[in-house]
Amino acid sequence: MAMHESVLLEEAIELLNLKEDSIVVDMTVGFAGHSSEILKRIKSGYLFAFDQDSVALSYSRKRLSTIGENFTIIDANFKDARLELEKRGIEKVDAILYDLGVSSPQLDTSDRGFSYHKDAILDMRMDQDNPLTAKKIVNTYSEQELTKIFQTYGESKFSRSIAKNIVRHRIEKEITTTLELVDIIKEAVPIKERLKKHPAKQIFQALRIEVNKELDVLKDSLSDALSLLKVGGRIAVITFHSLEDRIVKQKFQEVSCMDEISKGLPFLPDDKMPSYRLITKKGIKPKADEIDKNNRSRSAILRVIEKIK
Ligand SMILES: C[S@@+](CC[C@H](N)C(=O)[O-])C[C@H]1O[C@@H](n2cnc3c(N)ncnc32)[C@H](O)[C@@H]1O
Repeated sequence: MAMHESVLLEEAIELLNLKEDSIVVDMTVGFAGHSSEILKRIKSGYLFAFDQDSVALSYSRKRLSTIGENFTIIDANFKDARLELEKRGIEKVDAILYDLGVSSPQLDTSDRGFSYHKDAILDMRMDQDNPLTAKKIVNTYSEQELTKIFQTYGESKFSRSIAKNIVRHRIEKEITTTLELVDIIKEAVPIKERLKKHPAKQIFQALRIEVNKELDVLKDSLSDALSLLKVGGRIAVITFHSLEDRIVKQKFQEVSCMDEISKGLPFLPDDKMPSYRLITKKGIKPKADEIDKNNRSRSAILRVIEKIK
């Protein structure tokens, strides 16, 4: 299995500001690259590590047990993190990490259907128990629904013509594989545009977001995560595309900024002070040498916030 190269590893760990006894939540343990570094630093603390991918979870369990025993792996969507932590008696934590999206093994394992370079059944589920697959979307959503998700989650200029072509093809035969879909997408995009970037990139991104409800889950989970922090606790989020980053940026701005009236006051009463402060005013991007080593990191942005009262 191809290994996963952790993105912005040093930067994220540094900014989480961990102490020996920190209680930490990794919302997306994946192949435990970040979690391994966290566990090494919290000798008397505890790590709760979530993922919804069974392959990733069993790999991480083994990897983390070579470092310590002070961790629990939780097989759940991070939208349920607060509930899962409550079940274990945890109400507040010191640090929370999200490293969003899919891991390299998920992308590279051909039978998961995430990659537009490898032939596979159109699946794209991170959670293998999810009843919604990319195949179901492509073959059952209306032309209007397809256009809308390609526009909203893929920001593709050719959403309408691609949706139309999908519907035209599926009347003749069910669309079942990634490469069949790639051909249908290519047919609907002018040749000149195809040369600029792979025409399937945005459409595959849109389908993946719809299958896994990635943006809705992120919005809900961030609100929960903010309420889970102790004073002095931090959340670090690594995103991989502008739609995710916008959600994080807006949420962090909303909770860390003063309202308009307070801005005009000569001094601020305590109850008007925001409860959070931005640690990264601008998002942090990987350095050139990280991008050279790991092309997947090129679109990553790290944002960090701290609870101050
Ligand atoms: C980029 S990888 C994480 C890699 C990890 N930080 C490492 O260094 O090995 C993202 C992981 O998040 C998981 N994931 C994405 N969305 C999730 C969600 N809503 N709930 C739980 N896990 C999720 C994916 O299954 C994947 O394993």
